[in-house]
Amino acid sequence: MKQNQRQLGNKLVVVAGGAGEIGERITRMFLQQGARVLVPSRSKEKLKALGTSLKDISTGELIPLETDIGTHQGLKTMTAVIKKEGALRAAVSAVGSFWQGPSCMEVPVDEVHRVIQGSFLPYVGLTQALIPALGPDTHFIKLNGLLSLQAIPNVSALGVTAAAQIAWTRFLIAEATESTPWITELVIDSLVRTRSSQTLPKEYISGDDIAHEILRIVTEENEHQIATIGKGPGDAEVEFVPVRSQVSENNMKRLFGSFKARG
Ligand SMILES: NC(=O)c1ccc[n+]([C@@H]2O[C@H](COP(=O)([O-])OP(=O)(O)OC[C@H]3O[C@@H](n4cnc5c(N)ncnc54)[C@H](OP(=O)(O)O)[C@@H]3O)[C@@H](O)[C@H]2O)c1
Repeated sequence: MKQNQRQLGNKLVVVAGGAGEIGERITRMFLQQGARVLVPSRSKEKLKALGTSLKDISTGELIPLETDIGTHQGLKTMTAVIKKEGALRAAVSAVGSFWQGPSCMEVPVDEVHRVIQGSFLPYVGLTQALIPALGPDTHFIKLNGLLSLQAIPNVSALGVTAAAQIAWTRFLIAEATESTPWITELVIDSLVRTRSSQTLPKEYISGDDIAHEILRIVTEENEHQIATIGKGPGDAEVEFVPVRSQVSENNMKRLFGSFKARG
């Protein structure tokens, strides 16, 4: 780890989805560290509410930006603001939306298409905008849910787009170079305690727990990783478990061997 990796004060950070439930806690944590935090949101009202809820923090600077990062124009607007504000130290994607519906045999194809278009493709665009703006020894962190790794009934469209997103992150990692940021995907394995889910027992992971884990990664780690994180009844602290490749070394050897053998 380089010495300056620990320092966050005054540095520019982007929290996409920063006006959302978990994003707000991540934004709060970065402000407490003294960072300048750019939060894009499609909603003026949500940005206003975010500013109000963060009023108690006197450090750092909140840079609210009304724009839709799910569109080409919105990403262009965000990129222009990043250029104006200076070097980017870290970027977080806390973007997401829930979907539940009919079984795989009953869900209309158009509905699956709509969910993929509404959440997978925006993630592709977001990474293409943020990763080039991040230099070496910076961090890109993406939040996801356990449905990206495990199927359960009646959430197929959500699970498929979550799985597509984690696959996209794997490709970003596979193509990373010395001049790209460290990439982390954090797969949260339960519901999260936030302002709207206070009925969830306090033993479960909170937005603040996730924010602290992100701070730890940004200031202490220097590797690409996909990991599950969670906390629940009986756990003393947040559990961080790296997700291992599902493919054996022998499978990989055979794949690359076949590429070579084809000539
Ligand atoms: N909350 C949980 O219990 C839980 C559990 C496991 C995993 N997670 C993961 O954690 C992440 C954040 O969850 P959350 O509960 O904080 O979500 P949230 O409160 O719903 O906020 C997510 C943010 O994503 C943005 N967003 C959603 N769809 C978008 C689109 N099509 N284009 C542009 N922006 C879009 C919204 O931004 P605007 O401000 O523009 O509306 C919103 O503020 C998600 O990836 C989710 O899968 C959450």
